[in-house]
Amino acid sequence: MRSDDSSWWRQGVVYQVYPRSFADADGDGIGDLAGIASRLDYLGRLGIDAVWLSPFYPSALADGGYDVADYRDVDPRLGTLADFDALVEGLHSRGIRVVVDIVPNHTSDQHEWFRQALADGPGSPARERYLFRAGAGADGDEPPTDWVSMFGGSAWQRVPDGQWYLHNFAVEQPDLNWSHPGVRADFVETLRFWSDRGVDGFRIDVAHMLTKDLTEPLPSQATLDALPRDGRHPLLDRDDVHEVYAEWRRVFESYDPPRTAVAEAWVDKARVPLYASRESLGQAFNFDLLQADFEAGQFRRVVQDNLELAAASGSSSTWVLSNHDVVRHATRYGLPHPARSTDGQPAQKHGVEWVRSGGVEPPLDRFAGARRARAATLFMLALPGASYLYQGEELGLHEVAEIPNGERQDPTFFRSDGQDFGRDGCRVPLPWTAAGPSFGFGTGGAHLPQPGWFADYAVAVQDDDPVSTLSLYRRALELRRQFQAEEHLDWVETQNSEVLRFRRPNGWEVVTNFGAEPWPLGDGRVALASTSFGGADLPGDTTIWIAPG
Ligand code: GLC
Repeated sequence: MRSDDSSWWRQGVVYQVYPRSFADADGDGIGDLAGIASRLDYLGRLGIDAVWLSPFYPSALADGGYDVADYRDVDPRLGTLADFDALVEGLHSRGIRVVVDIVPNHTSDQHEWFRQALADGPGSPARERYLFRAGAGADGDEPPTDWVSMFGGSAWQRVPDGQWYLHNFAVEQPDLNWSHPGVRADFVETLRFWSDRGVDGFRIDVAHMLTKDLTEPLPSQATLDALPRDGRHPLLDRDDVHEVYAEWRRVFESYDPPRTAVAEAWVDKARVPLYASRESLGQAFNFDLLQADFEAGQFRRVVQDNLELAAASGSSSTWVLSNHDVVRHATRYGLPHPARSTDGQPAQKHGVEWVRSGGVEPPLDRFAGARRARAATLFMLALPGASYLYQGEELGLHEVAEIPNGERQDPTFFRSDGQDFGRDGCRVPLPWTAAGPSFGFGTGGAHLPQPGWFADYAVAVQDDDPVSTLSLYRRALELRRQFQAEEHLDWVETQNSEVLRFRRPNGWEVVTNFGAEPWPLGDGRVALASTSFGGADLPGDTTIWIAPG
């Protein structure tokens, strides 16, 4: 291990691998664990602290693997438990920790529990593990409520014997009943299973759901939407979910070093500290940068708010510019700012319109997007707290819009009547070489089509180029390790609303020019710049780091 420090997660850099799209060792077009293991040198050279593996469990892939059929095994298309152990060993030997995804709100409909629930019928103990109800209407042939799933369409699905089950996501993802002691006990066993195999931490999928109050009469969707999110909402962010996490905390603490966890919790700001506290999961994602425009005022507010929140829980903040659920940040920043409603929230996810148009409207400025993305990344990597990177962002990859409808995989596409084209465009297999059947991803094809322009972004093309985005990430992570300081920053006022400057306690300084006009930099040794420039003026859309001391 790079260090025995059990608080590595506080300011670690965690690199998210989406296993089906990273590297394919057996040539079947689907990335696998042996593929990841074949790229250990690449991961080691990147300079990350941990790898977070999105689900690699057996899955019918109704939701990119977030429909888990067996929580304690590896999908045969991705390898075996022995491959997993070898991967963990390989990563550990390079000082890289391993975080795995836990998906506790729902199983796959292929999970043995759900198959048994269907086979055993209404009233059976097996049905108790899920949320089955009788239908509404004279014949029970209407869903119990008008609730809408997160992926669109009804949140209820009828089974042949007439009952309905709740699925807040895809039909193939039945929600579990977290009042069931057997469900709780089984997840504890899963956490122990992976911890015993050497996993260092867990990313908890939709951590704000799990527990639900389905006391009759069930409210309508309109009532649900209007109910306060005060910990007693029937479906979301309930106080009692922390009883689950208190039990998990005892599991985490029973290991040396304690296992870590980070919550994916889409909740009101004031409630984030509940998830981030040491009694609960210990850390929570903040997704504010995913929703912010490349704009100084918004970035400053996001940083300020989240440092305060982190202080309130005693945890550290997390920063994310891209992940497997959103349009890549190089693309977001090359598109006009999205329309915002009066509360400042984007009216729809940034880039969705562009994806829907097949990448034509509004026009994408690839160059500006990439330049701003590099500036935003250097800004983020200097913030106090942990940074989460998503595979491919270190290559400066753009979102792929040109995926034929017939090849789309994301359930949001199928359940939104083609309104939301979904997340396939950031899940296209990585380009490793400029040529070859799948740009070096594997010897076969790629499970999502790669566009021709991927050649320009290939690892092999960027590897030895000192000004490539890949080289910038490597250098940034190396310097970050050297410059890292206490979890604090002070703003240095610039008297320019488009320029942010902050200083870490040891003197590490960061300046980002979010505007178009050059900004006179004055003194300070530039240790790293997101765009190379000469002279004393900091160009627009550029970040620099000034060495401490
Ligand atoms: C999380 C995952 C997303 C998945 C959903 C349902 O939001 O990040 O990819 O579709 O949970 O499991």
